Formats: sequence, C-alpha cells, structure tokens
Amino acid sequence: MSQIGRAERIRLALVMVGLPARGKTHMARRVARYLRWLGLETRVFNVGNYRREHLGSHQAHHFFDPTNAEGLAGRRRVAELALDDMIGWFAQGGEIGIYDATNTTRERRGRLRDRLAAHGLEVVFIESVCEDEAVIEGNIRQTKLRMPDYAGVAPDEAVRDFRARIAHYERVYEPIEEREGSFVRVIDVGRKVVAHRTQGYLASRLVYFLMNLHVAPRSIWLTRHGESAFNVDNRVGGDPPLSPRGERFARALGEHVEELGVDRASVRVWTSTLRRTRMTAAPLGLPTEEWRALDEIDAGECDGMTYEEIQERLPGEHAARRARKLTYRYPRGESYEDVIRRLEPVIIELERERRPVLVIAHQAVLRALYAYLMDRSLEEVPYLPVPLHTVIRLTPITYACEEERTRLIESG
Ligand code: F6P
Repeated sequence: MSQIGRAERIRLALVMVGLPARGKTHMARRVARYLRWLGLETRVFNVGNYRREHLGSHQAHHFFDPTNAEGLAGRRRVAELALDDMIGWFAQGGEIGIYDATNTTRERRGRLRDRLAAHGLEVVFIESVCEDEAVIEGNIRQTKLRMPDYAGVAPDEAVRDFRARIAHYERVYEPIEEREGSFVRVIDVGRKVVAHRTQGYLASRLVYFLMNLHVAPRSIWLTRHGESAFNVDNRVGGDPPLSPRGERFARALGEHVEELGVDRASVRVWTSTLRRTRMTAAPLGLPTEEWRALDEIDAGECDGMTYEEIQERLPGEHAARRARKLTYRYPRGESYEDVIRRLEPVIIELERERRPVLVIAHQAVLRALYAYLMDRSLEEVPYLPVPLHTVIRLTPITYACEEERTRLIESG
C-alpha cells in the first residue's frame, strides 16, 4: 500500500547507534510500528539475531572483546549478512530499513554509509545515549536476561556477563559527530533529543515521534461507546443517543474503572465529539477530553443508512467497499485510510502520555488505534474485532503490548 498522503517513493535507511542496553531495539521496533502504520514498507534488520542464528547464541563476553580477532571477524561477517539482506530488501521495494546494531565506531558507520550510498540509499543515524543507571539496569534485566544468550544462566551471573560485554563496547565507542551526516541523538529515552541535518517531512515526523517516546509503564483502555439507537437498527454514522442497554454499559464502565487498580484521578478519559461517547463517559464523573479526531468514520452520503439500504440504493458503492474496504471512501465521506491519517496526533499524544488513558470511541477509529498499538497490518484494520460493551486493556511490555479483554454486559 502506498504511504498515506505521499507523492513519491521513499527509500531511507535508519541506522541505530549506541552501546548495548540503551534501548535501541525497543526504539527501532517502535519506529517501525509507527512507520508501518503510516503505510510505509518498513523492516528492522537486527544484527544480534543474525549473530545468534549464524554463530550460536551462547557467546560469553570475551566474544565481544575488541581485541578478540576471531570474535571481531565473526561479528563483522554477521553485520555484513544483515546489511546484504537489507540492501536486497530495498531492491525488492522496501522503503524504510532499520539497521539495528551497536555501530559504535566511526569507521563502521562510515563503511555502512558508503555501502548504502552506493545503492542510492539515504542514511539517518539514530543514536541512543543513556546515562541513567536505573534505566540501563532495567533494560538488562527486562530484555537481555530473556534473550537466548542467557538461557539457563543465573540472573546475577548473566548481568555480570552483560555488563562486561558493555565494557568491551565502551572501550571503542565513538559518539556520532556532525561530520558523519544526518542523525538524531536521543538522550535518556527522549528526555532530550538532538537532530542534526534531518531534512524533509518524514525525518521531521520521525524526530517528533522520538521526542515523545517513553518507557514508563502504564495501561491504555479502549472501548466503544455503549449501544446507540443506531446500533439497534444496524445504521451507520449519525449522532444518536445511547439505547437503554448502552446506558447500562456506561454505568458498568463507571464501576469497572473503580476496579482497575489505578488511581481514578490519574486516568485521562478521551471521547469523540459525538453524543454516544460523551454519554458513555458521563457516569465516570471524571474530566473528559473531546477529540474531533476520534469521531467515527464519516459515512458521507450513506450516513444514517443501514447496510441493507446502502446495498439496495447504492449497489456500486456497496460492492466497491466490499472489494477494498481499507481504501474505499464513502461519497463525500471518509475511508479507513483517511481515519488513520487523522488519528496521527492521537497516536503521538498516546505515546507522550505517562498516565493511564481510557479512550471511548467508535468501531472504525478503535480498529485503527488497536492496529497501531498491537502492530497489526493496515490490511487487517477494517476487519479487526472491536465488539460493543467490551473493554480492551493494552499494557506495553518490552517490545509489544499485553492484551486483556473484559466484556462488561451482554450485547443482546
Ligand atoms: O455500526 C457502527 C459503526 O460505528 C458505524 O457508525 C460505522 O460506519 C461502522 O461501525 C464502521 O464499521 P465498518 O467499517 O465495518 O462498516
């Protein structure tokens, strides 16, 4: 699929830089998820995975010692393999390749840049710098100890070995310099972000995205409004009030929030501007923020019709939507792609927010948000199940989100 709102083809290599346990892989995956959601063909090439696959996963820290000639040669080889694959992938139509490795020396970065440039690929380095010992320790314990590298090794022993591995890299690490070209330096997971020669719309969006990332644990709850008068007849769009069953759900949601185990007052509640979401939020008794961007997909000339009426009166439209639901745009209305595009500020705000967020919105809009949070493909978006009267709790853990669904009342 073409990137939403883009005129020409993009080919960009993002090259991660930084010592081990600085959250590079986390950042690479989050960036990839965001870019994929925007419709760009994006893939992460993680050199650590190539190393494990080609050289085995149980390498003690000596392997990473820069004076260990054999280790160095092995690491070079797998780094080249990953790079070859990435270049091959670009040749097949890849748009944004993320090369995830330490790339700690200027010499190695120079070689990377030259090889990529020879294939007409532009490079932006993303350097992750982290001096916060607590964050580093957390990274080691949460992600590194779970790697196959340390399967069967006692945690304290694994931490000691990993710290020795970091020390090897520290001896040769040369932070990125301005003369090396375009880069974004992210310090202490977004506390400070420095951008150097990052030009163009996409690179600026990337910088903005990186500025808003954090790793603080918190949950996001997604729910549709309670059943509306239109839901009862299977009508699309409109601004109907809740049905009596929908009101029951709103009350149940109020009680559910009491039981979530979070400080109620800390929860941010977002609704659309439509009546059915505002009525659903009312029993919570919490301040709410209304987002126009969270309004349901605009069904244009079909607004207020049932699906059967659309099929009868506008059979061509009905068939076109069935054939390609993601890109189909209602006459004078919106497509799923349009919805995704207008949700971008909501995504950035969700990334930035450290408090728990409860989003009360609509089927199409929540499908799009869910797809982002769960890294599902755009093709799946229009079909993702987001039933009424069900609260979806998503909690980011290391590289993904944990999901829990709670059905509060029967939908009838
Ligand atoms: O039926 C409820 C509803 O929120 C409509 O207002 C909206 O048009 C529809 O869901 C979106 O779902 P779909 O894209 O599957 O028609």
